[in-house]
Amino acid sequence: MEPIVYLNGNWLPLAEAHVPVLDRGFIFGDGIYEVVPVYRAVPFRWLQHLARLERSLAEVRIDDPLGPEAWTAMVYELVDRQDAPDQFVYMQVTRGVARRDHAFPAAATPTVFAMSTPFPGVPTEQREHGVAAITLPDERWLRCHIKSTSLLGNVLARQQAVDAGAVECVMFRDGRLTEGAASNIWVVRDGIVMTPPRSHLILAGIRIGLVEELCLQADVPLAVRPVERIEVDSADELMLTSATKELIPIVSLDGRPVGSGSPGPMYRRLRAAYDAAVEASVARGRMAPAAVASAIADGVRA
Ligand code: PDD
Repeated sequence: MEPIVYLNGNWLPLAEAHVPVLDRGFIFGDGIYEVVPVYRAVPFRWLQHLARLERSLAEVRIDDPLGPEAWTAMVYELVDRQDAPDQFVYMQVTRGVARRDHAFPAAATPTVFAMSTPFPGVPTEQREHGVAAITLPDERWLRCHIKSTSLLGNVLARQQAVDAGAVECVMFRDGRLTEGAASNIWVVRDGIVMTPPRSHLILAGIRIGLVEELCLQADVPLAVRPVERIEVDSADELMLTSATKELIPIVSLDGRPVGSGSPGPMYRRLRAAYDAAVEASVARGRMAPAAVASAIADGVRA
């Protein structure tokens, strides 16, 4: 059955959801987005995703067209309109439809689109045996902290990885680790978990905050600091995180094994903690939209 999607206040079958060609999302990639995993109908880390959505909107100077309470109610309804218990919600806001001109239009109504697709789970093969990655220079722009739909640099990098038979790339700028095409990267050396600090060079993944919490709870030493290329090349373990890949081990880099060449003990530890965090979120259930709004007003670190 055709999934029901949300477009500018309307609920429509996907095939009937259309955007004018002059939408600035189409013309300029002038928009922002979010991807939120949903487990048993409960959006996971919803507050953090919503806080990041608000931050992205502010960065590109689009007024929030809905607000925290309405976003939450819309996403709950979207999830309830699908069949699958586990899903991915995709939300996008563009600056709207206007005559083509680079500068912002004087008056345009943002386009708001959201869809949700079933999440069959990360393939067991990837979870249990890990994936291959390649290294690449990071040739994207210098505002990678904005979750913008302008993703050509990421698209080309990911395709290079796929062309090389890998699942993801591990990118470097000025000799230091940045991130993957659509994931954050984690390095384990001598029992310490490392990841680069939040800056304009990477997207602050919602799983960065999550893994920070998991390390703290499990007494795992964590260093959020610039990571040199040599540290990646000599890592005991490498991992990646994203909404859609959760947490998976990278077992080969540029065709060479990472550490032992199979998923390591730190991965196993954090994997168990990640799964427990998902279960705890399901057990807590959904937050009421009004409670979400007041939590966002109080400030949430994404
Ligand atoms: N991408 N870095 C980049 C460039 C990303 O695109 C993503 C996620 C991440 C991980 O962030 P999070 O943990 O919040 O998913 C890091 C999503 C999944 C996508 O574009 O589909």
